[in-house]
Amino acid sequence: MIKYNLMIPGPTPIPTRVLAAMNHEMIGHRGPLFSAVMKEVMTDLKWAYETDNDIFIYPSSGTGGMEVAAVNVLSPGDKVIVLNIGNFGGRWAKICTAYGADVNNVKFDRGKAADPKVLEAELKKGLVKAVFMQQNETSTGVINDVETLAKLVRKIQPDALIMVDAVSGMMAAPLKTDVWDLDVVVSGSQKAFMVPPGVSAVSISARAWKAHERSKCPKHYWDWSLMKEHAPKGHTYTTPPESLIFGMREGLRMLREEGRENVFARHKFNRDLLRTAARSLGLKLLADDTCASPAVTAIFPPEGVDGEEVRKLMREDFSVEVAPGQSELKSKIFRIGHLGYVDSLDLIGAWAAVEVLFKRLGAKINFGAGVKAMMEML
Ligand SMILES: Cc1ncc(COP(=O)(O)O)c(C=O)c1O
Repeated sequence: MIKYNLMIPGPTPIPTRVLAAMNHEMIGHRGPLFSAVMKEVMTDLKWAYETDNDIFIYPSSGTGGMEVAAVNVLSPGDKVIVLNIGNFGGRWAKICTAYGADVNNVKFDRGKAADPKVLEAELKKGLVKAVFMQQNETSTGVINDVETLAKLVRKIQPDALIMVDAVSGMMAAPLKTDVWDLDVVVSGSQKAFMVPPGVSAVSISARAWKAHERSKCPKHYWDWSLMKEHAPKGHTYTTPPESLIFGMREGLRMLREEGRENVFARHKFNRDLLRTAARSLGLKLLADDTCASPAVTAIFPPEGVDGEEVRKLMREDFSVEVAPGQSELKSKIFRIGHLGYVDSLDLIGAWAAVEVLFKRLGAKINFGAGVKAMMEML
């Protein structure tokens, strides 16, 4: 038996406390026991989102949450801007297109954050219903400056909706939903909340509720109006994924116990640890320091080494699961997740495996330099 090490940017490792909390008998989902659980989850989600807005949770993966966001505010023909800095930006564009929106899919170079100057120019071209963006783009390991982007939208088009996919960024980096005036923010259970996949959450501003009243996209399961009737009672429209909600309660309790600033500092330190290690071997990173994600790092392997090979051998030789490059970055990079229940020693262990692997593959690296640099940082 060899220990399995999950080092991908979601699903992330699950703490024993969360696993134990999910090991709970089913209870009536329209009764007081379940209401009490849901009310605690809602209070803590609002803490995580830094919001007083409504938050609804859905039994779905993160993509379901993105679809919830789009179908509840859009109508066919609406003009929208998508700030596309990677695969998940592309997903916003696909969802909006599927529901008939007129999508201005603004693509940025992979490894770069959305440029506020480009957004400014696009906003000045004409009124749009909404601007869609990622807080953290998981496919490239880049974090957007959501605060600056949101300020620009408010300055140039005050009524445009600001739609944020925070699936991999929520609780890995600050996101101030109310202070930054974000209209809809989507998160997913399987990232920094440290819970298995299957629950998405969306926050809804007063502006988004107004847009919802006029929205003509077809919907039923995702319809906010149906959830609104049930939410004040601590219920959901459909049967909720109770085990996951018990898990959410525990994961959120753990985050509150650790404290927001400590959680963010831990993610930042682990990001810097990994970036320092990679650079100590002379490796190139996809994102530069100004937009480097605290949740996931995309790394170019040494000359002559294929990113897919790294992923395969890490799994086969060391039982460490790292993530591949996606789309045009396939084989060119590999990604290591450091969000959620991951600590510095997990990363040092994984990096030691990376170095041994590079050596076995005959790459010319300063063997051990990365691990040494990490130890010095500790
Ligand atoms: C930024 C981001 N958005 C959306 C998603 C989609 O989530 P899911 O795969 O749970 O549907 C992911 C998943 O990795 C993500 O990282």
